[in-house]
Amino acid sequence: MKIFIDTANLDRIREVNSWGILDGVTTNPTLVAKENTNFEALVKEICHIVDGPISAEVMSVKAPDMVAEARKLAKLHHNVVIKVPMTEEGVKATKVLASEDIKVNMTLVFSAAQALLAAKAGARYISPFVGRLDDVGQDGMKLIAEIMNILDNYDMDAEVIVASVRDPIHVVEAARLGAHIATVPYDVLKKMFAHPLTDIGIKRFQDDWAKVPKK
Ligand code: E4P
Repeated sequence: MKIFIDTANLDRIREVNSWGILDGVTTNPTLVAKENTNFEALVKEICHIVDGPISAEVMSVKAPDMVAEARKLAKLHHNVVIKVPMTEEGVKATKVLASEDIKVNMTLVFSAAQALLAAKAGARYISPFVGRLDDVGQDGMKLIAEIMNILDNYDMDAEVIVASVRDPIHVVEAARLGAHIATVPYDVLKKMFAHPLTDIGIKRFQDDWAKVPKK
């Protein structure tokens, strides 16, 4: 499974990229706003740090405007992927962009029906928001299983990016379901390393090694 980081923060992207396990980056308007800097310059800098798909979201609401905005963003770097919201206008825009070989990550997906339409429109990536579904009492990972089954039935090219990840369990469940990608917040990535028994084990090995004669 590919792991993307879900942030627009350059320091955190650099840190996680140094681990050697990072395959891409997803941003969204909320994450970009936190960085309080020029959007296009930020996207270009992220592309220079991570050699993988970098998602940047269009804010227009009508298809022709989405397409125009997307074409401009796509010119920033060959790794830029255009995030388009799951709407009728978004599907129309995705159809055009896919025909121009501009990769689309269809975002704000909350149902299998939406995912099916996104795949039919030619989205390269589909982003179901599992955490937000859990937040309202629905089963986000159940949706991932549904979508993976649909894509397998028809051998559809779209890759599923499990998004709105809230904890390491979401990441593990995504992998167990065979999702292509999980986009993971920095804090959740850090939590994936942590286990008290690992810490206890390292301490014990260090203490016992100190007793080994060194000459
Ligand atoms: C993908 O990049 C999504 O925009 C992101 O995972 C949403 O996460 P949130 O539901 O915590 O805002």
